Amino acid sequence: MSGPLGRLSTGVAVTGWGVALPDTAVTNAELEARLDTSDRWITERTGIRERRIGGTTGQLAAAAARQALTAADATPASVDLLVVATSTPDQQLPATASTVQHTLGLRCGAFDVNAACSGFVYALVAGTGMSMAGARRVLVVGADVMSRVTDQDDRSTAVLFGDGAGAVVLDAVEGPGQLLGWDLGSDGSLRHLLQADIGGYVQMEGKEVFRRAVRVMVESSEMALQRAGLTIDDVDLLVPHQANTRIITAACERLGIPMERAAMVLHRTGNTSAASIPLALGDAVDAGRVAKGDIVLLVGFGAGMTWASAVLRWGQ
Ligand code: COA
Repeated sequence: MSGPLGRLSTGVAVTGWGVALPDTAVTNAELEARLDTSDRWITERTGIRERRIGGTTGQLAAAAARQALTAADATPASVDLLVVATSTPDQQLPATASTVQHTLGLRCGAFDVNAACSGFVYALVAGTGMSMAGARRVLVVGADVMSRVTDQDDRSTAVLFGDGAGAVVLDAVEGPGQLLGWDLGSDGSLRHLLQADIGGYVQMEGKEVFRRAVRVMVESSEMALQRAGLTIDDVDLLVPHQANTRIITAACERLGIPMERAAMVLHRTGNTSAASIPLALGDAVDAGRVAKGDIVLLVGFGAGMTWASAVLRWGQ
């Protein structure tokens, strides 16, 4: 940023996006060979067929961010702010954003956001706010290496999680911009449902997380849509957090949106936490599923318990 307050803008547009996944795939068959589980159980109960494992959060985040900058035709020097959403930072300190900043040669403020699997939408909304405060170009990344905080011998979590990153470039624009409505929430009284101590592994009450995830996805989506002055019928693409196909199916049913309108990468990525929404968004956009003017609803939930929704009008 050139100063404490640059030229004030009134909205943002997503001008570039990028994704990164580790090369190594771990299939259900491989898990079946070493854990008391089966391809059938994992597929039926979660929808996951494989997940990608490897790398560091900083490496994956930088790879996705570099792609997003190239897609936006943006130089490193033009970035005014970097926000990295992650709950698996490479180090206790500094922030992983510092690593990404150095790797990409950025010369701007850089910080991490930890809202677990809701982190990318939190960072997107925070980045939009910072844009309105004068940062003309904000790079927002969601990146996690969940394999590092998952006990690979625990079948109840090892089958679920994977590693990855996704990024978007937000450019300040005159007019309302693309973000039409949002909702961020947290209920810290539920933090015991899904947690990992420093240096420890993810512990989870799966059934309870499932039940509450469906509820908060529906409530948060409806709140963000209401604030945008829209209804679920206006949504062309739903980009849900990729944790479990059954959670997404149940949320779609209750929201009243056909499953065909949901972006899905879960079967090949597993739950990549803060990376899951930008990975699914990038996949859908690259597949030509989003046209200019389409309404895109992002909705996430995760440890905290946190939830987050954002309604975007694509390409305006
Ligand atoms: N393979 C085979 N069996 C497994 C298993 C695995 N990988 N994991 C658990 N089981 C067993 C359980 O031990 C249990 O056995 P039991 O009946 O003999 O006690 C049985 O399968 C059913 O377990 P349960 O936990 O009731 O299954 P479920 O239908 O709730 O599915 C989850 C488990 C984890 C897939 C599901 O609860 C879930 O997805 N929850 C949300 C998790 C999540 O999304 N977390 C991240 C949020 S960001």
